[in-house]
Amino acid sequence: MTYQEALEKLSSCHQEHLLKYYDELNEAEKQALLSQIEKLDLSLLSLLSDEGGAREAVRGTFAPLGATTVEEINEKRAFYEEEGLKAIRAGKTGAVLLAGGQGTRLGFDKPKGMFNIGVDRELYIFECLINNLMDVVREAGVYIPLYIMTSEINNEDTVRFFTEKNFFGYDPSYVKFFIQDMAPCVGYDRKILMENKGKIASSPNGNGGWYASLKKAGLDEDLKKRGVEYLSVFAVDNVCQRINDPAWIGAVVSSGLDCGGKVVRKADPNERVGVLCLEDGKPSIVEYYEMTDDMINLKDENGRLLYAFGVILNYLFRVDKLEEIAGSRMMTHVVEKKIPYMDENGNFIKPEKPNGYKFELLVLDMIHMMDSCLSYEVIRNREFAPVKNATGVDSVESARKLLEENGVIL
Ligand code: UTP
Repeated sequence: MTYQEALEKLSSCHQEHLLKYYDELNEAEKQALLSQIEKLDLSLLSLLSDEGGAREAVRGTFAPLGATTVEEINEKRAFYEEEGLKAIRAGKTGAVLLAGGQGTRLGFDKPKGMFNIGVDRELYIFECLINNLMDVVREAGVYIPLYIMTSEINNEDTVRFFTEKNFFGYDPSYVKFFIQDMAPCVGYDRKILMENKGKIASSPNGNGGWYASLKKAGLDEDLKKRGVEYLSVFAVDNVCQRINDPAWIGAVVSSGLDCGGKVVRKADPNERVGVLCLEDGKPSIVEYYEMTDDMINLKDENGRLLYAFGVILNYLFRVDKLEEIAGSRMMTHVVEKKIPYMDENGNFIKPEKPNGYKFELLVLDMIHMMDSCLSYEVIRNREFAPVKNATGVDSVESARKLLEENGVIL
């Protein structure tokens, strides 16, 4: 893209300020900036209302979905495990680790997976996840292809760390990394922010673009080559989650449904978690802040809450269904964040409070793009130990406690 073309593109949306320091840049920096502008998706700006803030998303009619409960699963456990092991041994399952986030709440300056959650020994978050997956590898007697999504920001550190640590004993020929896309950051005045004179401020575009990014990296060919028919996706920060465990795989595979979502029973009706439910007859996740009091307290004839199961970011998708939706545009969420930027005088500012918006795609929106979903209950204390914060709720402290409860030596 030439300077003139870039200027025209930006003028159409009043973003010419991105070229303000163009003349001060050297040739390589000029090219880098023009290439960033060329890739810039300016249609994202239309998601911001004229007064600032995000335009409200229009939601459909919600209804409860219920879940296959732990009791029901236990009754059929032997069958589910057998079906699951069959699929795993036939090489039909793969796993995708979503590790492209910035983990700002934890306040750790390296990729979150590099955090040492051990106390008397080293035990890294990535290592916990690999250990969990290795349980299945040992039981099934085969490795499971593992695809790790990183971002431009943390890819190098992540790959180096895995290499230095010998993939924590995982067979490296079953591990592939891919890098997710970035999205521009925008100030409250709807102007795209600059990080420095030659670089637009941008951030990873959320965890929802994982399949598109995996395809862009050509890894859909790897899935085909290996015969992977089911892909699980999971967050980097839940150190206790079981990954591709046979009963879960078997339950989703034998259900014949398009996907599955692991859920935990809400600790109390007002817990701030997204609930797996139906929206206009299709599976969906309703966020806690979207729920009315009536929904929160809705009970069945036996007095049991109907919107009772929260998602834990552990899903299983049929790959053919992912292919079907691969070309569809996903909903983009606008989130207020603290964004480091360069002010009008060219000074770099690290704000103390939110100063603008990031654009994110969310994996939970993929659930609504599927026709059917198995809601699969797991025991909270066994499978849900997210490390979001340094202390308090969902923190290093709470996760350590749960790891110990589950027999992990720290
Ligand atoms: P979170 O919602 O916790 O976001 O991500 P985050 O960026 O990691 O953390 P905070 O909000 O800044 O503290 C849930 C999962 O989705 C992944 C994260 O790595 C984590 O596994 N994720 C998030 C991505 O892979 N890419 C993204 O752009 C965002």
